[in-house]
Amino acid sequence: MDNKTKVMLALLLVVGIAGLVIIYNLNDSVDERSNVRPSTIEREVEKEEVVQYDDDLPIPQLIEDDYTFIAQNGGVDWFEGVRTVTRGYNGNILGPTLKFTRGKDYNVTIKNEMEEETTVHWHGLLVDGDVDGVFQVIDPGYGLTQKLEIDQEASTAWYHPHPMHKTASQVMEGLAGMIIIEDDNSMSLGLPSEYGVNDIPLVFQRKAIDDRGQIVLDEYRNFQIVNGADNPTLRVKNEWIRLRIVNGNNDEITDYSFSKDLETYIIATDNGLTSTPLRTEQLFLAPGERVELLVNLTELNVGEKFTINTNDTEAMKVEIKGEVDSNYSFKLPTSLSTIPEIGDISDLKVRQFELDSSGMSMSINGEPYDIDKVNEYIELGTQEVWEVSVGDLGMHSTSHPFHVHGVTFQIISRDGERYEDWEQGMKDTVLVSSEEKVRILATFNNKGKYVYHCHFLNHEERGMMGTFVVQ
Ligand code: C2O
Ligand code: CU
Ligand code: CU
Repeated sequence: MDNKTKVMLALLLVVGIAGLVIIYNLNDSVDERSNVRPSTIEREVEKEEVVQYDDDLPIPQLIEDDYTFIAQNGGVDWFEGVRTVTRGYNGNILGPTLKFTRGKDYNVTIKNEMEEETTVHWHGLLVDGDVDGVFQVIDPGYGLTQKLEIDQEASTAWYHPHPMHKTASQVMEGLAGMIIIEDDNSMSLGLPSEYGVNDIPLVFQRKAIDDRGQIVLDEYRNFQIVNGADNPTLRVKNEWIRLRIVNGNNDEITDYSFSKDLETYIIATDNGLTSTPLRTEQLFLAPGERVELLVNLTELNVGEKFTINTNDTEAMKVEIKGEVDSNYSFKLPTSLSTIPEIGDISDLKVRQFELDSSGMSMSINGEPYDIDKVNEYIELGTQEVWEVSVGDLGMHSTSHPFHVHGVTFQIISRDGERYEDWEQGMKDTVLVSSEEKVRILATFNNKGKYVYHCHFLNHEERGMMGTFVVQ
């Protein structure tokens, strides 16, 4: 490179770093929903990214049986000449997709080959607290076998570590994977269900990479990956496809969009199918939330491409690589599932949860997380109304994705207002904005010790979490 280029690069680097510092400092003081848009910054220019635009989207291996996970250290070559240190399950980054069928039991063994303790939490599985994966710590060199009894509706869930003080870093370093649950209903609807062909797992994460090309926790998130890859391309036929989207970010609310106008429906939320396909033009997900989309690609021609964008920047490409058979037909189902009516809830027990963040300290109802304390006791088999709100901290108020383990819930209201259409479905994570109260109706059908927390993982680790026992 000539001297002029070097000077230019150096200048860009300085401007870039200054930008990063400013934006990162703003991070704690403004509404995260607006300030997470990373399109305003450029990635650092020092390291040359390996341009891999023709790389296929990695499709994690599909496991439909008992399985042994090895949580291990690894490395990925995202940048020219740099090995980025990562972690994965049975691989360098992320882990296989688990496919569970309702009514079956699965024995899952986790071996910890890392040098620090870990757990595996099944986010979205309605299983008892003794296998939920928060309090079942696995020391380095040890393993644990858990039996997962699957009895819940078809949906997309995911798994990730949940050890005290190490959740955020282990997720950021790469430990996470998708779970697909099928039941008789979901399999009878004729939805696209060829894994990796027209039923596509997409785990979106934005990492913070430092100028040595390494993952760091407390920096601005500047590097978008999908299924562990930088701007990969999904190649499909011109048919209807189903996208299972996990917002696997540590702390970024994401606006997902296509570069083309495509007929798109939301067909599932966190814990189940929606009642009908819901036509949508806009999709915001908070960390921990999932949706399934149906996208009509039948109008596209072979060779056509579009992009899937996260917060207005390109995250991946989709390319039509083949024609469907001339006898291809797909009929959009008119009904998918039955969402229970919310009946008379006036006699139910009501609990309040106020999410507080002031500077560095985080708490719920004024109490930072205490691993030795049980904050709430709940009677097994009951329904309750939980009212979740954000503490009033003036300038510092922000939104928080509130997640409850071991249950699925319905949103009753947001400050009395009707919630977004797609939020009528079954959920386990809900974004609560400042100055609103979200009321949820939860059914406690599994027993044991669980947690509820903010799914911004740095908030969770700084204390925005509580323990409840269902008995
Ligand atoms: Cu996705 Cu408590 O976690
Ligand atoms: Cu969870
Ligand atoms: Cu939070």
